[in-house]
Amino acid sequence: MSYANLIVEQRDAVTLVTLNRPQALNALNSEVLRELGEAFATYEADSSQRCLVLTGSGDKAFAAGADIKEMVEKEAADFYLEDFFSGWQTDVVKGTRKPWIAAVNGFALGGGCELAMMADFILASDKARFGQPEINLGVAPGMGGSQRLTRAVGKSKAMELCLTGRMMDASEAERAGLVARVVPHDELLDDAMKTAATIASKAPMAAIANKEMVNAAFETMLEQGLTHERRLFQILCASEDKGEGMSAFVEKREANWKGR
Ligand code: CAA
Repeated sequence: MSYANLIVEQRDAVTLVTLNRPQALNALNSEVLRELGEAFATYEADSSQRCLVLTGSGDKAFAAGADIKEMVEKEAADFYLEDFFSGWQTDVVKGTRKPWIAAVNGFALGGGCELAMMADFILASDKARFGQPEINLGVAPGMGGSQRLTRAVGKSKAMELCLTGRMMDASEAERAGLVARVVPHDELLDDAMKTAATIASKAPMAAIANKEMVNAAFETMLEQGLTHERRLFQILCASEDKGEGMSAFVEKREANWKGR
């Protein structure tokens, strides 16, 4: 499938999706978001693909936010009636059960930061900048920023970033727990693809269950999360890959995953 605003490639078991509007710093308009939903749905449905990396084209930006030039024309009724930002975000990208990584190569602002925070984790180039500058436009985050940023970095820093519109650099974002690792700019994509290949080499069902458990820590109270984790662990113990993985360890050989 070809896209107007994305480049989608499959490299072995890893899908690489590149936001491709560098002239607009990869700003997210409705068309980009619709295509992103399609690319993620295709990834989710293709059993040969086991991890996805999302990055931005050009040297400057992952995504500089929702497209202000598209939003400037809309009135409140349009945003409400279209349930703007809802469909692709909640149904497809957030709902993807298979793992995916955001490789943030530059500005990740507003909706760009919010999109990166939907990933299972963020790898950042040392040139990455994160922020929720919506207040500078007279609005506020609309794609989950106030909730996900606060859960990631705590109330004080999230509040400061939202209220001032200030950007934080990659090392501050790493110290705050927003990003998993910072890597030199020129090595970001290689590192992200290697990390994704490592994830793709694991038992696929266990990868989905690991993701679901960690997300439960984010989305539920502790007791519910612990029960959820225990049940998923027990379900995994009924899989062929549990038998294969544990036998391979005992027999000192590589596991041959079945994916079930
Ligand atoms: N929407 C539309 N176009 C954008 C854009 C955006 N979010 N961000 C940048 N662009 C465009 C610029 O208009 C410019 O286009 P032209 O050449 O046609 O003028 C081009 O990208 C390059 O941008 P700049 O010249 O501004 O580049 P810079 O290096 O001087 O500045 C920047 C970079 C600091 C990121 C600056 O572009 C900027 O502040 N962008 C807006 C960031 C922002 O406010 N994001 C939040 C959007 S609202 C949102 O996302 C709501 C939500 O919660 C979902």
